[in-house]
Amino acid sequence: MHLKQTVIILFFIALISCLLAFEAGKPFNDPNKPVSIPPSPQRSGDASKGYVYLTTGDYLKSGVPYSYYSFFTPKDRHNYLNRTGKNATVPYDFNVVQSPDKVDVVVPTCLQCHGQVFDGKLIIGLGNTFQDFSNMAKANNPISNFGSNVMQTFSPKQYKAALPLFTSFDAILGDMQTEVRGVNSADRLATLLVAHRNPQTLEWQSKPILDIPKGVIPTDVPAWWLLKKKNAMFYNGFGRGDFGKFLMLSNILTVKDSSEAREVNSHFGDVLAYIKSIEPPKYPKQVDKDLAAEGEEVFVNNCSKCHGTYGANVYYPNLLIPASIIQTDSLLYKGNQQNPQFIVWFNNSWFAKGDYPARLEPFDGYIAPPLDGIWITAPYLHNGSVPTLQALLDSKERPKYWKRNFDKPQYDYEKVGWTYESTDKPKRRIVYNTTLPGYSNEGHTFGDKLTEQERREVIEYLKTL
Ligand code: HEC
Ligand code: HEC
Repeated sequence: MHLKQTVIILFFIALISCLLAFEAGKPFNDPNKPVSIPPSPQRSGDASKGYVYLTTGDYLKSGVPYSYYSFFTPKDRHNYLNRTGKNATVPYDFNVVQSPDKVDVVVPTCLQCHGQVFDGKLIIGLGNTFQDFSNMAKANNPISNFGSNVMQTFSPKQYKAALPLFTSFDAILGDMQTEVRGVNSADRLATLLVAHRNPQTLEWQSKPILDIPKGVIPTDVPAWWLLKKKNAMFYNGFGRGDFGKFLMLSNILTVKDSSEAREVNSHFGDVLAYIKSIEPPKYPKQVDKDLAAEGEEVFVNNCSKCHGTYGANVYYPNLLIPASIIQTDSLLYKGNQQNPQFIVWFNNSWFAKGDYPARLEPFDGYIAPPLDGIWITAPYLHNGSVPTLQALLDSKERPKYWKRNFDKPQYDYEKVGWTYESTDKPKRRIVYNTTLPGYSNEGHTFGDKLTEQERREVIEYLKTL
């Protein structure tokens, strides 16, 4: 055989094995190729116990004394979670728990960010896109302004019960401000809290022990029902190893030391089981079945290699898509690379040790998420920069400046997402400004090549997931 032929044949063998590896989801080392994420062992647990712990448990043990809270705050009228006792009187995203000194305290829960009322119904696990982190500068922050005055009115036991929460709020809240309402700064929260904690004992350090990078990076909270398919947590897939350890990370808001963390940790196999048991809500309006069936074909041909398949033949490839391919806003994944101290802190901390070790593995790009329940999780992309699926799949339709009505929210069931208004100017807090760093709506242009008809079909299909 001629050398030239041999080279050509070898080239084709290499090409085919590459394609096969992509299909089978094998790892690549090329920075321009998707990387498949291997699974890690996870704890098992009891979902119903996890639910009870999540909605009544003391994963935070420091908070505002209940007697003080109930005096100043009207009783919650909804009781969305059908809770009993004192829990029935506070909103769904707070629990009433006992401090170590047996003071009843009101503590914020996961549902602050991981629950949202949609069409009058509380959807647990839906990322809350109503929270307002845009007005948190120190001057506007009630805890920083009034915290110490309020605390002077507490009894000594109440003071002790509230101190850890007020101390960490005082250190962090003024540094978590986003540019617009609706995006979340929990990643900032983690960075700030970690900087104030000893990595082994988890005890509070009043002076930060790490350099804290500047800038708050906005994210759109991912839905909990996606976790059961994922081999890694978070948008850039950097949460590896035991998921329970990441789920309990909010505990560092007020944790006393690692012995408290150990006790809290013992519940998180159950919490993980509960989160894995959550199913996405069904699209509530009529779906055109024929159109959706056409859409499935378009989806399989254009989208499945990254987002997987649904229905009878479920398959999810668990792929990290490098920045060079996805081209969406880079600030979130870059933030980790530019903050190696955070990664080192975590990977040598209490969270990375013991029976259930977790670790962080940064990556330059983002995970292609499962799309179950995608109809209800607008706005889209990791920074919530695109208001509808229609705009996500046709990049020239994406608004540069847009706003939605938070007081009378309106969902657009045709374009699938929030009814929005494009504006010609940005306006801090009110208008989503995609020209700001971290807020860009660029990239993920895979829908652009579809015809108008194919796009309609795909959107109809996405309603069924
Ligand atoms: C202040 C808001 C906030 C609170 C409180 C909060 N989270 Fe989150 N959570 C987020 C944000 C934002 C992300 C996405 C971060 C990222 O990927 O960069 C996230 C990610 C997650 C994920 C990963 C989902 C995925 O698919 O990768 C899980 C699971 C999760 N949180 C569980 C919890 C649990 C359990 C609690 C309570 C113990 C909690 N969170 C408290 C904001 C919050
Ligand atoms: C090369 C891989 C790849 C292909 C092909 C692809 N996507 Fe994506 N998709 C991604 C990644 C990665 C993200 C997350 C990007 C981000 O948030 O910055 C994403 C995000 C999305 C989102 C938003 C998810 C959310 O929760 O905000 C939707 C919807 C979506 N894709 C639909 C599609 C459809 C429909 C197609 C086919 C027309 C498609 N994608 C093709 C990789 C891909």
